[in-house]
Amino acid sequence: MGKKILLQHIDVPGIETYKVYREKGGYASVEKALKMKPDDVVEEVKKSGLRGRGGAGFPTGMKWSFIDKKTPNPHYLVCNADESEPGTFKDRYLMQKLPHALVEGMIVSSFALDAHTAYIYIRGELLYVYHILEKAIAEAYEAGWLGKNIMGSGFDLDLYVQPGAGAYICGEETGLIESLEGKRGNPRMKPPFPAIQGLWMCPTVVNNVETIAAVPHILNMGGEEYAKIGVGKSTGTKLISACGHVKKPGVYEIELGLPVKEFLYSDEYCGGILNDKQFKAIVAGGSSVPILPAELFLTTAKGEPRLMSYESLSDGGFATGTMLGSGGFIVMDETVSVVKNLYNFTRFYHHESCGQCSPCREGTGWMEKILHKIIDGHGKMSDIDLLWDVQSKIEGRTICPLGDAAAWPVASAIRHFRKEFEELIQTQQKVKDVTYLQETVEV
Ligand SMILES: Cc1cc2nc3c(=O)[nH]c(=O)nc-3n(C[C@H](O)[C@H](O)[C@H](O)COP(=O)(O)O)c2cc1C
Repeated sequence: MGKKILLQHIDVPGIETYKVYREKGGYASVEKALKMKPDDVVEEVKKSGLRGRGGAGFPTGMKWSFIDKKTPNPHYLVCNADESEPGTFKDRYLMQKLPHALVEGMIVSSFALDAHTAYIYIRGELLYVYHILEKAIAEAYEAGWLGKNIMGSGFDLDLYVQPGAGAYICGEETGLIESLEGKRGNPRMKPPFPAIQGLWMCPTVVNNVETIAAVPHILNMGGEEYAKIGVGKSTGTKLISACGHVKKPGVYEIELGLPVKEFLYSDEYCGGILNDKQFKAIVAGGSSVPILPAELFLTTAKGEPRLMSYESLSDGGFATGTMLGSGGFIVMDETVSVVKNLYNFTRFYHHESCGQCSPCREGTGWMEKILHKIIDGHGKMSDIDLLWDVQSKIEGRTICPLGDAAAWPVASAIRHFRKEFEELIQTQQKVKDVTYLQETVEV
């Protein structure tokens, strides 16, 4: 059995309640932290090598150390629970099953950052999870872990849950901050980064749910011990949400460094390809990361077995690699049309673009139209190069990375599956089940 840290008590009946969570050792990390100096807590997180689990993998301790502690302005901790990336559903699972793990992480992290007000910004559609969190927070207040003078330490903290209205762009940290301030969730230009000017222009750390939930474990076991788990600069464990054509879809906790073959085929995890069909392609880290054909996914271009780690999955760059991203593991068997799947993703990005930057606002729409033309049986060979051209003019040219997230799936699909585009165009074949866009839009 692989090592379980975050989910070690997931099957304990009643673990979502304060009583059972506490019986299982919950909130011990708060007791420990309150006896330490805040900077020493930051130091432990740095030593652990923990990297942000929201997608970019930025080192958490380093991000925390950017907070200006000399400013007279308040500091804020904001937990990003927006989780709208197609294929990613691990934060929802964590919050639903272990709400106190997030509350505990928020308290320890706020203490480390000298924040006295903290927010959990949760995706609007997850209203039932919002209520679960509200209950856990009320229990934590009642038990004295939140509020004034926590456990007689002199540390005060108020924690709020704020539901969004279901917009993917509000998962981008500065879009989230704008939304939390009551405005339209348009991402901000960076710099300044949130650690300098975030919520209400005050120093703010935005971290993913899973990142924050890992902090109590780091404190309990010590940063150095945590860093021994995993491989290289990919330390600790990671939640992976597996979906698509696998026998056992679900949320799994893996030790980073696990061979991808083991994750995909062993009965402990995905159990292999559904109905024993041929494994064709994978989007291994949420819809934004490059798609890979099966053979490049299982083995790197150097001929090494690929591992579930930040470094191994990106080995070879975008030519032959991909990214760990948010851990949304979307498996496709031989029956999947890569072009149609790409159309679905692109339609999503077009819909979710906030519209501030022309390359993203216009480019995602053009890509959607070109792709629709192809899957509707009207494509021209020149459309493939046009598609390539459009994506290349979005990447790196927008305020926030939603533009990149829309461009990478297109670039990688053309790079690895060009033949599939060509075949569709040559045969002018309609891809089945394209029912949601009735009219054909000429480009
Ligand atoms: C369009 C877009 C959507 C995003 N959605 C999320 C999200 O739902 N959850 C999340 O944690 N990070 C999301 N991110 C990444 C955040 O901007 C940010 O990097 C992250 O919350 C930082 O937390 P971490 O360092 O703990 O990973 C998104 C980024 C972009 C560009």
